[in-house]
Amino acid sequence: MEKKIKILGIAGSLRKQSYNRGLLQAALEVVPPNCQLDIFDLEEIPLYNQDKETNLPPSVVRLKTAVRAADAILIATPEYNYSIPGVLKNAIDWASRPYGDSAWDNKPVALMGASPALQGTSRSQYHLRQVFVYLNMHPLNRPELMIGSAENKFDSQGKLTDPKAHQKIGELLVALATWARKW
Ligand SMILES: Cc1cc2nc3c(=O)[nH]c(=O)nc-3n(C[C@H](O)[C@H](O)[C@H](O)COP(=O)(O)O)c2cc1C
Repeated sequence: MEKKIKILGIAGSLRKQSYNRGLLQAALEVVPPNCQLDIFDLEEIPLYNQDKETNLPPSVVRLKTAVRAADAILIATPEYNYSIPGVLKNAIDWASRPYGDSAWDNKPVALMGASPALQGTSRSQYHLRQVFVYLNMHPLNRPELMIGSAENKFDSQGKLTDPKAHQKIGELLVALATWARKW
């Protein structure tokens, strides 16, 4: 039997009713049988401080361990001021350090995002793709998953209600698993 692909989901928002946390919750409902999806919550990750690189905070150690244990990463990101939210960039920076000990190296990664704006986080996602170049990560090119007009696709609790978006998340996971097996 094929080994299960372990995917680590990370949302770039701490908001309780976050659309992007909602995307990861929806992903849990459509995980293909040959995959396992675990979610890492960034709430306990402190602000990056290079002075602490020699003695990493326990939550950062947990993040790095979870990233290393994963075969692939799934990021659900908001867009803040046309770019990557600080919460997510901060976590990416922590797990890339100390120099020479990045947990991200060689990891396949897929992106998705939801926003009330029509572009649906495209600018944030393309900025992340630029960061992946330095981190030597392997972003999945297609499908792209950018959900605009999010207020019409989630309920007031942040649960995804749009069947088409559910279907697209399922397709993204299948593509990510195939991509991860290639690596
Ligand atoms: C500081 C800030 C900057 C924002 N900038 C953008 C932006 O550039 N583009 C966009 O589509 N939405 C922007 N928004 C709106 C977010 O898309 C919206 O708050 C969304 O709900 C955040 O994602 P979440 O629901 O997962 O928390 C911004 C929101 C905040 C708080």
